[in-house]
Amino acid sequence: KNGLQVAIDGPASAGKSTVAKLVASRFNYIYCDTGAMYRAITYKVLKNGIALDDIEAITKIVDSSQITFEPTAHGQKVFIDGEEITEAIRQEDVTNSVSAVSAIQSVRTKLSADQKQLAANGGIVMDGRDIGSTVLPNAEVKIFLIASVDERADRRYKENVRKGINTSLEVLKQEIRDRDYKDSHREISPLTKADDAIEVDTTSMAIPEVVETISKIILKNI
Ligand code: C5P
Repeated sequence: KNGLQVAIDGPASAGKSTVAKLVASRFNYIYCDTGAMYRAITYKVLKNGIALDDIEAITKIVDSSQITFEPTAHGQKVFIDGEEITEAIRQEDVTNSVSAVSAIQSVRTKLSADQKQLAANGGIVMDGRDIGSTVLPNAEVKIFLIASVDERADRRYKENVRKGINTSLEVLKQEIRDRDYKDSHREISPLTKADDAIEVDTTSMAIPEVVETISKIILKNI
């Protein structure tokens, strides 16, 4: 193995991807954003006008699609079947439909098998909802990243302002609560803290501090 498997799970907008990317680059590990994979499938489902309860059609989509990542200076580009969807998968329509698509058994089976394969040689930081609990149950490091709803909505709000997107703080709070509820209450591998995960509450922490905390945990396990 070339390094550890590091699983970072937690609710929506807790800062998982920002922190996971920085931790990965610090240890020269691969970064895998599993949420982007569920978002990519959701994007294609919506693009093809498939209803969110048409499990057969969605299964065909997940079994026939190729999701790929291309690292960039700031993060990574995301593609489905060669089409770049980096920005498109962050839009409201995808965000508000992704929990329905990610609750489907065939979608989870396919994507988690791909994720396992990607992590097989170690040297990876993977973020998501079920990485420590289901995808990589033997990961050497498991982090459960949390923050208050107010803090998460506030961070998302500021990010939107920077991007020139106009949303209300109240709407963001409600969307975050809704997505957490759906992700935590689905039948198959719901969002949950693995028994052996270390909880890190980032509510009053700055990003470098979170990266430092996780890096120390990794160093202890190397
Ligand atoms: O992390 P992100 O917010 O981009 O994830 C989008 C959605 O993908 C989540 O709300 C959840 O429904 C789904 N997801 C999942 N399992 C993962 C990662 C994401 O079900 N490991």
